[in-house]
Amino acid sequence: MYTQGLDGQIGPVREAETAEEKAREAAFQAKIDAEIRIEPSDWMPEGYRRTLIRQISQHAHSEIVGMLPEGNWVTRAPTLRRKAILLAKIQDEAGHGLYLYSACETLGPTRAELVEQLLAGRAKYSSIFNYPTLTWADIGAIGWLVDGAAIMNQVPLQRCSYGPYARAMVRICKEESFHQRQGYEIMMALANGTAEQRRMAQDALDRWWWPALMMFGPPDKDSVHSAQSMKWKIKRVSNDELRQRFVDVTVPQAERLGLTIPDPHLRWNSERGHYDFGEIDWEEFHRVIAGNGPCNRERLEQRRRAHAEGAWVREAAAAYAEKRARRRAA
Ligand SMILES: [Fe+2]
Ligand SMILES: [Fe+2]
Repeated sequence: MYTQGLDGQIGPVREAETAEEKAREAAFQAKIDAEIRIEPSDWMPEGYRRTLIRQISQHAHSEIVGMLPEGNWVTRAPTLRRKAILLAKIQDEAGHGLYLYSACETLGPTRAELVEQLLAGRAKYSSIFNYPTLTWADIGAIGWLVDGAAIMNQVPLQRCSYGPYARAMVRICKEESFHQRQGYEIMMALANGTAEQRRMAQDALDRWWWPALMMFGPPDKDSVHSAQSMKWKIKRVSNDELRQRFVDVTVPQAERLGLTIPDPHLRWNSERGHYDFGEIDWEEFHRVIAGNGPCNRERLEQRRRAHAEGAWVREAAAAYAEKRARRRAA
């Protein structure tokens, strides 16, 4: 699903001191400047490695936790067609999580360690998945807005300087665009439906609009690690610029649905050639990121339960792999 400019701390990083270390860092930066991809076996500064581990693992966790609010609706999807589409979409998100854990493993940590950080509540994931899905229209709004914001975030990541992350993103972006369309199609059906269905669609937009804008992370002026990430070409476009792009493409889509975006300050600014929009409630964002959103506890609880209940699958897979290796050796 998504990545967010969370800009968490990566801990103290030792600066290059000796002439040799400085030359190595300069050579690394020259490679980045020349648009040469960095691969797992290449030398890289510790800060680059840790920034990527943080970002890719947060991204992977977001994909996995993102399955939960939608999973609630698999049994309640209104038709068999909707159920099949929703199941496929949720499976895609599981796949995204797995590619990303694999990409992250190329930097050192094991998947078991990464999962353990999530289950222990030490790792962050996108704030958006801590909001509840109250009606079927929420599934439409998530596809349209949340996956829509994810695409906006992830398209530039296909050109990220770290090879395994950039390559994982190519397929992920294709699938996200299917997710966005399926969400918009749900919204279209509701917007063209009964008065009650239109109300449901509007209510979902009202509740998901602002959290979707928060997905792009804190404003550039407060985004402490952004400049370094841009220099390393991990990040190509700033949080505020991505957010603006998202608003600009989404407003006409809402108009086509006949729905109203819940922002009295939203208006076209012909001088800037962009929509102006109101202030985001950053206090809410930080509250949710800190673990105090409406569903944080429930989400982690559900993940822990799924992990415990899936232990036998992991054990069986490991035993089978071992048996095959033994047979091959014999
Ligand atoms: Fe995804
Ligand atoms: Fe998605």
